[in-house]
Amino acid sequence: MRTISDHSPLVDAFGRVHTSLRISVTDRCNIRCFYCMPNEGVRFRPREELLSFEEIARFAGVVGQMGVRRLRLTGGEPLVRAHLHRLVELLAALPAIEDLALTTNGMLLPEQAADLRAAGLERINISLDTLSEATFQEISRREGLDRVLKGIAVAQQVGFRQIRLNAIAIQGLTEGEIVPLAQFARERGLELRFIEYMPLDGDEQWRSADVLDGATIRGVLEEAFGPLVPVASPHPSQPANEFEYARGGGRVGLIQPVSNPFCESCDRLRLTAEGQVRNCLFSTSEWDARDILRGGGTDDDLAELVRDCVGAKAPAHGIGSADFNRPDRAMFQIGG
Ligand code: 5AD
Ligand code: SF4
Repeated sequence: MRTISDHSPLVDAFGRVHTSLRISVTDRCNIRCFYCMPNEGVRFRPREELLSFEEIARFAGVVGQMGVRRLRLTGGEPLVRAHLHRLVELLAALPAIEDLALTTNGMLLPEQAADLRAAGLERINISLDTLSEATFQEISRREGLDRVLKGIAVAQQVGFRQIRLNAIAIQGLTEGEIVPLAQFARERGLELRFIEYMPLDGDEQWRSADVLDGATIRGVLEEAFGPLVPVASPHPSQPANEFEYARGGGRVGLIQPVSNPFCESCDRLRLTAEGQVRNCLFSTSEWDARDILRGGGTDDDLAELVRDCVGAKAPAHGIGSADFNRPDRAMFQIGG
């Protein structure tokens, strides 16, 4: 039997080494982006089903001993989980972890950014799809762009090592946002990344025609700001194709899961808020870590579960192929 004393890397059947874990801390959210959640009638997990901070930290410690070096907290919206900075503290103290990051919609950053930074959070991605309140409401079906903008400003003040902006690009809705968002990011010295819309919306309305693809976005950016020069990424597994504005103004990234999948360099595992391990956003199976965590299982049991999960990882998500099946869960239930 394999045990955790086996510290060999988490390698899947296709040779991909897994060094990164995305941890969802809640399925709840304070807004309702249509590409992620249904608008009404969302059934959230009862509180007792969610892993406690101690359970999450134990799991992260075990995978840390198996080569995981990078953690990212996600949701739902992670900042709606009470006292999140305490989890950050627990995770920042793990010896194996070299990089601790968070993805947020930004609305609660005005209150929480300073505590999160002080607890050891280094990097933060903030979702910003539009600079227009009307479009914000069309996407998120709630009010609050002003809070997001305030959140970005406060995050800049508290001194994170890196702040990135994520914009989902949607055909027929956000074409007109590309240039203003890029301008906004350039003025503030922030890196903006455009992300192609994936079939993970809560209402199952996604159509491939809704995807505003990376090549189109690049064309719009070059029209406005001049040539974009591809730059090598410091982390080969990172999904963004990064570019530098040849005429100055920093960098911009394109994440193209639909038009240019990056599955062959994927190094990610996922832990859902209620303790299920997944090997892909689009996987249709899950491995139950909560059962081990709450059933008196050992760290070796957890390690074996994670090896099984990694061993079963498919070569690619296959969006667009004839036999592609959506997972049963939408984005808010997996963690972005
Ligand atoms: N396609 C692409 N990205 C998505 N996100 C949420 N839903 C989708 C989707 N269907 C993004 C959010 C955020 C991160 C958590 O995932 O905008 O940046
Ligand atoms: Fe909330 Fe993020 Fe999903 Fe939007 S994408 S509904 S902000 S969890």
